[in-house]
Amino acid sequence: MRIFSLLATRSCKILRSLQQNAFLLSSSRIVAVNFGSTATVNKDGGHYVTTPIFYVNASPHLGHLYSAVIADCLHRYKQLQGFNSKFATGTDEHGLKVQQAAEAAGKQPLTFCTEVSERFERLFRSCNISHTDYIRTTELRHRQAVEHFWSVLWNKRHIYKGSYEGWYSTQDESFLTPSQVGDAVDSSGNEIKVSLESGHKVEWMKEENYMFRLSAFRSQLLDWLRGNPKAIQPECFQQAVLQWLQEELPDLSVSRQRSRLQWGIPVPGDASQTIYVWLDALVNYLSVAGYPNDHEQWWPMARHIIGKDILKFHAIYWPAFLLAAGLPLPQAIHVHSHWTVRGKKMSKSLGNVIDPLEHSRMFTTDGLRYFLLRQGVPESDCDYTEEKVLKLLNAELADSLGGLLNRCTAAALNPAQVYPSFCSQSFPRGHGGRAVAEDYCMLEAVKNLPFVVEKHYESLHFYKALEAIAACVRQTNGFVQRHAPWKLDRTDGKDQQWLDTIIHVSLECMRVYGTLLQPVVPDISDKLLTRLGVRRDERSFETLDFLPQYWERDSPFEGRALGADSGVLFSRLESQTVKKKTKNSHLK
Ligand code: MSP
Repeated sequence: MRIFSLLATRSCKILRSLQQNAFLLSSSRIVAVNFGSTATVNKDGGHYVTTPIFYVNASPHLGHLYSAVIADCLHRYKQLQGFNSKFATGTDEHGLKVQQAAEAAGKQPLTFCTEVSERFERLFRSCNISHTDYIRTTELRHRQAVEHFWSVLWNKRHIYKGSYEGWYSTQDESFLTPSQVGDAVDSSGNEIKVSLESGHKVEWMKEENYMFRLSAFRSQLLDWLRGNPKAIQPECFQQAVLQWLQEELPDLSVSRQRSRLQWGIPVPGDASQTIYVWLDALVNYLSVAGYPNDHEQWWPMARHIIGKDILKFHAIYWPAFLLAAGLPLPQAIHVHSHWTVRGKKMSKSLGNVIDPLEHSRMFTTDGLRYFLLRQGVPESDCDYTEEKVLKLLNAELADSLGGLLNRCTAAALNPAQVYPSFCSQSFPRGHGGRAVAEDYCMLEAVKNLPFVVEKHYESLHFYKALEAIAACVRQTNGFVQRHAPWKLDRTDGKDQQWLDTIIHVSLECMRVYGTLLQPVVPDISDKLLTRLGVRRDERSFETLDFLPQYWERDSPFEGRALGADSGVLFSRLESQTVKKKTKNSHLK
């Protein structure tokens, strides 16, 4: 009898959950929803997100932070979906330009690298970059991975001894064909040769070294890209790589004479040569995954975030090296474009390099993250100006989102400081209540929002996700404004129910916004969700279930006390304050 009732209770629960899911699937397109429990679901498999590793020859700038924020957002999003996600960043410390920068600073290369690498780490910590591993190419685990990788390529005869003669850019650590080189004049009036792509100076180089049989991989690379239309995203970059692959691929020099480059990993078995810095650097993705002994869990999962300037290295050299080593290729390479400042490329000589730490203090960490992801379009370059940042943050974070929270949690409208009740007579699924057509449109938009946002997060079109959220926030503000709950008569039972319903619906909307915004603005979202009384185990994308009572399901929030009020969500920025801060920072 007891067994029977236990089974009955369980099957009842299962049935209910199936019904709920089936209902939800038909009434909404939010598919990844779990009603059984409010805990974060741990899915099988994992995700491995990487940033490029950053050169330590100069201090971090806004572009570096941008690569890191994109990767951080993807990593946080995967975690909120219930995946186990690994997220690596770090510093690229070998090579001639680092060697020269250390010399110029009068420091030992490793001391110099440690100082700059720590600066990157501090920036990332202060900007809430939640990496799970920080790799430096001067670490022993990396050196061992590179040596092993080299030996595999050598033993498989993909590397041979030869000589290279051609153009080389130290600044880009890149070899160039004659068609990629043009004439220019340097600041002292000397005629020089430059890379047409980066504008950096190139030099003629002739050296005995080791060559990688890149030419042998052209057709395999073409097959890979043709068979995987989403290998490189956005699509325009995949097309660019396919275009490059229309031409012959020359073999690649993968070492430098040690006499010219000491700061790097020696070629195993030939200490007179140093491994090419890009081969060394790219292997960092394997080092973090545990290569050569323990990489299988993570390696096939990799998604690389890179800027457009390093596409060739990631989309041609890296897959060719991996194919040669018999390793799987990354899941995807996500490319982003660059930030300019007032229409100009950021450069030391122009003095317009944006210090991300200074600007994160000026606009707050979340403010800067929000701006970069809201304005950054992967396909095209974007322009950064302080006025634009200020205007956007004031409009969307302070006024729109912050204002909405303020209205719905203010003691005047919500004296009990609770999630008030939802009244289905006031806001029925059919007609006849007090809600109007625009209110139903808003519900539809917010109900679909998680689906829309997840789609854009998945393809790293964060600006589209944030645009969709901002539009819904505006609709919710419109909803409150339209019904002016402050004008309702609280002594009238029906008015009170309608007022509670307006607040309940608005808080539910904000719970959706707060949950979906977590990968982008973790601090603001935390503040918002805490104020709404949403527990930490109720914040995953999995458990997001918008306005359940409207669809006749129980709500865990109705009647729940709001969380503590810790002040305004996002303080309005004054242009004076920003100007003053900028001025002072120039004086520093
Ligand atoms: N060390 C190499 C990467 C090796 S990965 C195996 C490197 N480092 S970098 O420090 O020069 O650049 C790191 C990232 O910053 C790249 O993704 C690059 O595109 C990005 N940015 C550099 N300047 C940028 C802008 N102005 N705007 C946006 N991102 C840019 O390359």
